[in-house]
Amino acid sequence: MSHSSKKRIGILTGGGDCPGLNATIRGVVKACYQLMGEENVEIVGVSDGFYGLIRNHCRLMKPSDFYGILTRGGTILGSRRTPYKKMQLVEEDNVDKVKQMKDTYKEWGLDCLLTLGGNGTHKTANLLSEEGLNIIGLPKTIDNDIWGTSVTFGFHTAVDIGTDAIDRLHTTANSHSRIMVIEIMGNKAGWLTLYTGIAGGADIILIPEIPFNMNHVIAAVQKRADSGKYFSIVAVAEGALDINEAAMKKKERVQKRAEAGENTVTARVANKIQEATGYEARTVMPGHILRGGSPSAYDRVLATKFGARAANLIGKGKFGYTVAMVNDEITENPLSDVAMKQKFVDPAGKEVITAKNIGVSFGDE
Ligand code: F6P
Repeated sequence: MSHSSKKRIGILTGGGDCPGLNATIRGVVKACYQLMGEENVEIVGVSDGFYGLIRNHCRLMKPSDFYGILTRGGTILGSRRTPYKKMQLVEEDNVDKVKQMKDTYKEWGLDCLLTLGGNGTHKTANLLSEEGLNIIGLPKTIDNDIWGTSVTFGFHTAVDIGTDAIDRLHTTANSHSRIMVIEIMGNKAGWLTLYTGIAGGADIILIPEIPFNMNHVIAAVQKRADSGKYFSIVAVAEGALDINEAAMKKKERVQKRAEAGENTVTARVANKIQEATGYEARTVMPGHILRGGSPSAYDRVLATKFGARAANLIGKGKFGYTVAMVNDEITENPLSDVAMKQKFVDPAGKEVITAKNIGVSFGDE
């Protein structure tokens, strides 16, 4: 190691970005400075996630690099998707990725590496931990689908943005008596759509965990129209499936959608509603807007708490864990417990039941 009593801490951000990454980086760094003294801490920033670790794209950072980043969206380190399933594969470029990552870690004399990311990042983080590196994970994603934590940073900001989008759709849908079908990100999990749908007052919420029957969706729109409400808001998770699709393999499903000229579930739901009811249906795609911009106040607090916990773990030399929120308390879970798992919405859980109790349709009955 190139340093004496100083702690050298590497930080990377992996996978899709989200609001709160910079706030978390700031939280960790500030808490480390407090805990160990600024003069005893050196931060090494790894660019573009594991891609940068493989290629040794790292830089020693100054305290001033972390000034003013609490409110900044995205990540000051850059991020990139580096699929876990290819990590142990030596491809045409002949690069042994795991060896290279370990070499970079050693070359920089790191005492530990913090990996801020979602499920993919946690898988590789666990792999590196099993390879003997000192790793601490921090749970980031707008999808909120990391196992073992009730919440991930970035999620609530995305809920706020999605809610604002639905609020705005309400007024225009009402004016034109239209059915607005809004597609919400979230990968294979329905958390973001469920929370956004409830907060925005969506009439129908379709999520991957509850395969829907198109006839029930159409009936829900018609029921509203019969009671004089000629507009409806349908919040659809990008991964939502109807009951027929749920029984298909992904390849078959993708092919069927392409044949029908409906590449997304949202397009299909809108077309079918329009065909069956005669009401004009429009699709809306907030897409990456849900991931952009400044973190909400909630996420700034969460990011700061998570960051401070990570600093605490570094201080204690407790590695191989990822920070988590359990029963409203900040804690940590072993990386080996979290990697390879995903947290899904319980179709019988309290949020779904609450929504059903106020008459929201999930298209399943
Ligand atoms: O994991 C976050 C997420 O935004 C998902 O909700 C979405 O499916 C995916 O990333 C989109 O990824 P990309 O930005 O790489 O297209």
